[in-house]
Amino acid sequence: MEQQRLDKVLAGQGTSSRREVKEWIRKGLVKVNGQVVRAADAKILPTDRLEVNGRPVDRREHLYLMLNKPLGVVSASRDDRDTTVVELVPEELRRKNLFPAGRLDKDTSGFVLITDDGAFAHDILSPRRHVEKEYLVRLDRPLTQEMVRRFAEGMTIGEDKCRPARLLPEADPLEGRVILQEGMYHQIRRMFAACGATVTALKRIRMGGLPLDPTLRPGECRELTPGEVEQIKAGRRPE
Ligand code: URA
Repeated sequence: MEQQRLDKVLAGQGTSSRREVKEWIRKGLVKVNGQVVRAADAKILPTDRLEVNGRPVDRREHLYLMLNKPLGVVSASRDDRDTTVVELVPEELRRKNLFPAGRLDKDTSGFVLITDDGAFAHDILSPRRHVEKEYLVRLDRPLTQEMVRRFAEGMTIGEDKCRPARLLPEADPLEGRVILQEGMYHQIRRMFAACGATVTALKRIRMGGLPLDPTLRPGECRELTPGEVEQIKAGRRPE
């Protein structure tokens, strides 16, 4: 296993400079596996437990969170007017550079993945990777076989050519499930509008092979396990 300098590892967390980190170490605020270490150049292993001022240091490279987005919240890191999905992340899970991997409209609810892993986000959002996103939709009029056919053919909405999508009717004639492999601006609302229907409710219920955790209430979020992160990617194709 590769050894690294203690001060470099701590500064690499992104919240403090190397100079600040050296100061903590000099003051005896840093522990490695429960022992105070006062040498900035001490060599540590990736498996060593670090604490600063009594607080454990999270050494994982990236964080992956599932949020059940409530209505009225915007899919952004910061916004001057509205609450953002990143602001809903509880204090203990906050990190620098968190962002939503893919946007849901302000009036769409459900599964938003929040991460600081740009490469992963690109991987699951690129239409060329074919990672499915599934939505529950409610309309102002009954869903028709004509809509199912038009979705499956690949519709053109304005300037945008949509890839073939699946529309699956639910027991309630006003409801259906939509499965997309891309995410254009207001895509589902625009696809239904092109069929003469208005979307009255929209919720994302799955990303890739991972369904929205039904125990998460609107506004709640939790960390994903490494297995769940893999589940999101399951089924994607090489670019
Ligand atoms: N399609 C939409 O129209 N809105 C969303 O939020 C997601 C997909």
